Amino acid sequence: MAKDVIIACDFPGRQQTLGFLDAFEGHRKPFVKIGMELFYAEGPDIVRELRRRGHPVFLDLKLHDIPNTVRKAMHVLSALDVDIVNVHAAGTIEMMRAALEGLTRPDGTRPLLIAVTQLTSTSEERMQQELLIGAGINDTIVKYAQNAKEAGLDGVVCSPLEAAMVKTACGPDFLTVTPGIRFADAAKDDQVRITTPARAREIGSDYIVVGRPVTAAPDPVAAYDRCLNEFLNCQQTSFRA
Ligand code: C5P
Repeated sequence: MAKDVIIACDFPGRQQTLGFLDAFEGHRKPFVKIGMELFYAEGPDIVRELRRRGHPVFLDLKLHDIPNTVRKAMHVLSALDVDIVNVHAAGTIEMMRAALEGLTRPDGTRPLLIAVTQLTSTSEERMQQELLIGAGINDTIVKYAQNAKEAGLDGVVCSPLEAAMVKTACGPDFLTVTPGIRFADAAKDDQVRITTPARAREIGSDYIVVGRPVTAAPDPVAAYDRCLNEFLNCQQTSFRA
């Protein structure tokens, strides 16, 4: 199964994004994540441009709406030739099935579709007190992952700390894409459920999503290489399946 580091390009516009990626000229082309900020600012052209430059793209728009709207939106996104797209599992199994339908091209091909379980910035306390979800956060994450699997999705976005339990509940081939990554010697920022690249790999992450530890680093290429080394050169310990 592919293992890779995805850089979250959380920049306000095209100029900053391309300026950042220019530093990787002559280097391994990083897998990049385009999120809401950049997509809403620049539209589909920025996706086409990064694909043209040879970057694999995770289009992180976290769709969450009625099934018919999500189906039609996914149909539009499937034409952009990206590698991964996502929805919120909270939108229900029916919505996730509609997303998959909309994404699938006439020839049967499609980008990978994954679901967000609980945002890594959400604590159990907030989930219970503000959202009135009475279950524990781990039970919620496992249930959302099982729903995504039932709908036919390829995997979930979750905290690296939850990757092992998702693999245990949904099988080793069910992808775990995990933000909330920090170097051992760095600040947490607004993230709550975090760990290091090496530990994420040990627990069972397939792809780690890294934003500020790379984009805000004094030397982003060196920070990216450090992530790659810690993540790819570390042996995954076994998980129950
Ligand atoms: O800068 P940082 O490494 O915290 O960036 C993490 C990225 O992953 C951000 O783009 C954020 O939107 C995204 N993300 C997340 N938690 C999720 C899903 C996506 O942090 N559950």
